[in-house]
Amino acid sequence: MSEATDSPNISDLLWEQRKFPPSAAFQANALVSETHLYDIASEDYEAFWATQATETVTWNKPWNTICEWKSPYSKWFIGGELNVAYNCLDRHVEAGNGSKVAIHWEGEPGDTRTLTYAWLLDEVQKFSNALKGLGVQKGDRVNIYLPMIPEAVVAMLACARIGAAHSVVFGGFSSQALADRINDAEAKVLITADGGYRRGEVFPLKPQADEAVSSTPTIEHVVVVKRGGNAVTMHEGRDHWYHDLMAVAEPVCVAEPMSSEQLLFLLYTSGTTGKPKGIMHTTGGYLTHVTYTHKYVFDLHPETDVYWCTADVGWITGHSYIVYGPLSNGATQVIYEGVPNYPENDRLWSIVEKYKVSIFYTAPTAIRTFMKWGVEEPQKHDLSSLRVIGSVGEPINPEAWMWYHENIGQGRCPVVDTWWQTETGGIMISPLPGVTTTKPGSATFPLPGIGAEVVDEKGNVITRGGGYLTLTHPWPGMLRGIWGDPKRFQETYWSKFPGRYFAGDGAKLDDDGYLWLLGRVDDVMNVSGHRISTTEVESALVSHPSVAEAAVVGANDATTGQAIIAYVTLRGGASVSENDLRNHVAKEIGAIAKPKAIFFTPDLPKTRSGKIMRRLLRDVAEGRNLGDTTTLADASVVTELQKRAAESNED
Ligand code: PRX
Repeated sequence: MSEATDSPNISDLLWEQRKFPPSAAFQANALVSETHLYDIASEDYEAFWATQATETVTWNKPWNTICEWKSPYSKWFIGGELNVAYNCLDRHVEAGNGSKVAIHWEGEPGDTRTLTYAWLLDEVQKFSNALKGLGVQKGDRVNIYLPMIPEAVVAMLACARIGAAHSVVFGGFSSQALADRINDAEAKVLITADGGYRRGEVFPLKPQADEAVSSTPTIEHVVVVKRGGNAVTMHEGRDHWYHDLMAVAEPVCVAEPMSSEQLLFLLYTSGTTGKPKGIMHTTGGYLTHVTYTHKYVFDLHPETDVYWCTADVGWITGHSYIVYGPLSNGATQVIYEGVPNYPENDRLWSIVEKYKVSIFYTAPTAIRTFMKWGVEEPQKHDLSSLRVIGSVGEPINPEAWMWYHENIGQGRCPVVDTWWQTETGGIMISPLPGVTTTKPGSATFPLPGIGAEVVDEKGNVITRGGGYLTLTHPWPGMLRGIWGDPKRFQETYWSKFPGRYFAGDGAKLDDDGYLWLLGRVDDVMNVSGHRISTTEVESALVSHPSVAEAAVVGANDATTGQAIIAYVTLRGGASVSENDLRNHVAKEIGAIAKPKAIFFTPDLPKTRSGKIMRRLLRDVAEGRNLGDTTTLADASVVTELQKRAAESNED
């Protein structure tokens, strides 16, 4: 139960006892079913990563130093040379797999494209030459602002091939967000499209790009892919149709070996607040990290598996587990352009059935939405091809985990809950599906090669209970800094606990040493001196059979310091009273965590990548004017909640 009052640490309230060992049938065919990777890595993590770099990546020149660590800066595989595009394409074609399908692409309206490794290689070579023709050179930055179409993958790989760093901006971001990111990166070229499909309609991108480019002096050329068919204005001399450039591009562009520490990409992350940070990732270490994790976390059998990650290439998940990890491993994957509920709520399951997807990777926000829509949707389809299912992006509530396990994984598929960040480059904490006994809601253990510890406020290591998640030693995919802002890099990640990377997340360890993520520490509530994580109260709410999704925040309270206010979305057709829910929380995790008030809402405010924005809910609960709402996916959700909060204050 709860800890003593005034504990400086985060309370440890929720107890989850269900356990799911890998089945013998799964283990029989798994890449790893014993603990040897953990054993080897714990002896010498650098040597372990060097083995992974040798086994999973092709190098033009071997490295002379595995890792140089001058805190907070690390370099990996120093002296080594390689080309990321070569690793993702050429080596598979050279090995005789040119006709293998790399991407089954499905457009939202139902149009499809089947793209082989040989096709991708041809396309990437031509586009590399087209970029060179526009003056792009090694070391330059190129911005990409595209829908989920194959050309996004081509553009990223073409940049990698010629040593230009890409900076992908999610297609749902505004022209101002795009302009800010272009200006920070000082990009030379912007690659965009006329428009893309979303909810059955074309959303225009080129007009947004035009507006952005009117305030980005560094952009010399704009390349436009035709997808939406919407009318666009082309600026003579500056704008070029992708298909026109490709029609005249030379077919061969040799993959030039790059130094292991060559900048591969910038990816801007804002979290839920603050000016976006340009997270820097480099070549050899990053590719090693994502190739290794994609192979082992998903137990990838590239000959037979069909892999599908539902993220957008605009996020780190899309970079690492749509583009670089899967293609480096020679996987066959599905890429889908649109939303999960077009034309109906079963679109994703129809795609799983159609392409016989065997590995499926999505986010808790999607899983909770599927819960809201009901089990009838997946039940309309044959999901028997699935073998492994994964989750990323937020803590997955135990009940959402169980729903996913039972209704999508059909009780058969290991669930891999993968904890990582834009900054970590690749997966850090996750089960290995053939090895780890999972518990619903726990990301379990650091992967072999990764060091993670939970510490208290003073930085002392704790072995049980709640605290702060830290990473104890460098790893190959770690960020190399924040573009143009070394001070912020030092302050954000390395100053709270000297010598450790602080991820900004709370975490707890249970009696068996399992790690449980507790959400961002900025969201932790303080109720009568108890530090209570939002995740645990939300999970208690979601464990009620009527609840699909919940967000809780601490609002100022004269008596208890902060009081817990909950916002709850019910499952389709379900109903429950506020009082029953409050009592349910008290029963699950204790009276201290009982929400003072519960508001029912059809939706929660979320970032465009699907994370709940508790900061805004706190503003609503405390009756403040809303601050920055530009990162919100659907601003009408909070306006509605605000109206209701004002009404309830008048009551
Ligand atoms: O709070 C953690 C949460 O997402 C944050 C990282 O967000 P981002 O950089 O956008 O990357 C998301 C995709 C990797 C983390 O600090 N997070 C991510 N995965 C999990 C998670 N929280 C709990 N469990 C996870 N599996």
